Amino acid sequence: MGYWVNGQRSNWATRRRIGEAILLPAALFIVLTWVGAPVFASDGQALHVVVLGDPHLPGKQLPAKEAVLRTVNGWPDVDRVVVLGDICEDRGAADEYAFAKQFFASLGKPTHFLAGNHDYIYEDAPSARGGRIRGGPDSRAAKLRRFRETFGLEEMYSSRRVGSYLLVFLSTDHLLSPHLAQISDRQLNWLRDELRKHRATPTVIFFHAPLRGTLLDFNDHANKDDFVAQPQTELRELLRQNRQVFLWVAGHMHVSATNESYRSAVNLFEGQTMTVHVTDMQRERIWTTSLFLFPDRVVVKTFDHKRGAWVADLERTVKPGQP
Ligand SMILES: [Fe+2]
Repeated sequence: MGYWVNGQRSNWATRRRIGEAILLPAALFIVLTWVGAPVFASDGQALHVVVLGDPHLPGKQLPAKEAVLRTVNGWPDVDRVVVLGDICEDRGAADEYAFAKQFFASLGKPTHFLAGNHDYIYEDAPSARGGRIRGGPDSRAAKLRRFRETFGLEEMYSSRRVGSYLLVFLSTDHLLSPHLAQISDRQLNWLRDELRKHRATPTVIFFHAPLRGTLLDFNDHANKDDFVAQPQTELRELLRQNRQVFLWVAGHMHVSATNESYRSAVNLFEGQTMTVHVTDMQRERIWTTSLFLFPDRVVVKTFDHKRGAWVADLERTVKPGQP
């Protein structure tokens, strides 16, 4: 310290220190870049939210799923992780939940768990022909209770202020609905109230299923009643009345990042809410979605875990009030 105060800057040792101060970080940067260390887009201003689609645990490609958790654990800038439902492989049986609990125990980040149809809607026992049976209210309620107990939740839905945004986490929880992805009347009323209270806050909703009409009809399921967020009429009206909801983040449809619908003009719902479709984890090449929440915009990026790199072509920026 005194050295600088005295102004003796022509000294050789000082020049060496200056050289080291410049060259060492530069060398470190070059080495890290060269060996392919992850480069983060958050630059200190953004909050990084990692979104995992349909894990279906234990299910297929378990080593690839485990590798995703290791990679996310290695990202130092992650603020939180959101798991979009279908956490259980098939029927929400006790052994599936036990596996899921142990699997996510190794994820060292704050995590929000959302329920999907495979977490609660089917009976444990298959039909005589081996198919799935949609459960009655008692079976569904028991599996939702198991979901809350497994992940230590009081409610199936919640919200949180993060930076300048409101993040809303919804779960499939209807006990009688004929559809695969419907929220209960109680949850719908809570959502209505929550949006009314935060009308001036840019809002991101996370739910298992996408909004209707935000995918091309690329297969027999797309945009059909079982494969969109329900109740669709009420949700459409609610979003029309709450234009602060500018992002809707969903799984359920297992949309590959190579699908034309994954990043398409059709993703914009009612000219106001951009729907982000997150790929499932039942595959050897898993993509996860990252939201970088800047004060004035959200940058949506896709990470290819097989390649260990961000997919530049799939990046997009969404601004509140200006999708
Ligand atoms: Fe799924």
